[in-house]
Amino acid sequence: MSSMHFEKVQAMIAEIEAQAPTNSDELEQFRLRYLGAKNLIKPLFAMMKDVAADDRKHFGLLLNEAKQKAEQKFETVQSGLVGQKSKGNQDFDLTAPGLPIPLGSRHPVSIVLNQIIDIFRRIGFTVVENREIEDEWHNFTALNTPDDHPARDMTDTYYLKNDMTRMLRSQTSTVQVHEMETKKPPIRIISPGRVYRNETISARAHAQFHQVEGLYVDKDVSFADMKQVIMHFARELYGEDVKIRLRPSYFPFTEPSAEVDVYWGLNSEDDHRMTKGTGWLEIMGCGMVDPNVLQMCGIDPEVYTGFAFGMGIERQAMRKYKINDIRMLFENDIRFLSQFSSAH
Ligand code: DAH
Repeated sequence: MSSMHFEKVQAMIAEIEAQAPTNSDELEQFRLRYLGAKNLIKPLFAMMKDVAADDRKHFGLLLNEAKQKAEQKFETVQSGLVGQKSKGNQDFDLTAPGLPIPLGSRHPVSIVLNQIIDIFRRIGFTVVENREIEDEWHNFTALNTPDDHPARDMTDTYYLKNDMTRMLRSQTSTVQVHEMETKKPPIRIISPGRVYRNETISARAHAQFHQVEGLYVDKDVSFADMKQVIMHFARELYGEDVKIRLRPSYFPFTEPSAEVDVYWGLNSEDDHRMTKGTGWLEIMGCGMVDPNVLQMCGIDPEVYTGFAFGMGIERQAMRKYKINDIRMLFENDIRFLSQFSSAH
């Protein structure tokens, strides 16, 4: 009786030894057959109760041998197959040329900023930068905007949560103050950077954007000088046939003050929307530096005069590339950004 059971297990061992799975499908079949939940060795274990008590130990050892043989074969074949795969992966042609790495393109705001910097550098302006977190003095007071001045409400300023005397600058005009406080005329600088305003985001306005500030202080600097510099800038950036106009305006730190518009066009519905129905897009504020500002920054207004201007860079990019929604400049959609050349 018992010997028949032994023979069955021995036959099973022989069967397992004879197996030679050569690929992962065959190996899976092997696993299911000898190691899976319904494997063929399991029923042999059930025969234990029919084996004579004296032979049970021996029978058990033989069953374990069958199981181990199956496990060993599985592992050996499996590691062989993995080895084969990685050998396949080593079949690289190391001499093949590399795949091309796609080149990114510059952001339109960077392209236009670089052009603006080029234009002003060529006529003797140097580039300076300054901080984005400011105090009241640099953002307002020294710019002729005392505490109770209504112009403080002209822009909605983000104050720091823990320190209401400090804020994210709402304009790059702050850099004028830093420059005049630390340098003697002649001063001829432009200063690009980020500014922040608590504005409702729309097609025309954003809560964070970029400006370039300009300042020229020397003896005998006139309004006519300012107009020429701005005209030169507009021709260089937009082309010889650009149309600009100056409108009288008000800023606390300049007297007189003006706003500069560039002609956009008035054909499509978009043109109407972008220019509020005028055909003109406002691109900068400017004016003669108010004598109070010179005085507060330690420059004698009896000796020196100056002009200043501040422009939004996004505005220039929108006019130059006819972008009709400022939000596109902040969304980082690669389909939009890849349209701009990386030349600059
Ligand atoms: N800071 C002004 C603004 O953010 C722009 C400006 C106007 C700057 C006149 C100037 C200036 O330097 O003279 O709206």
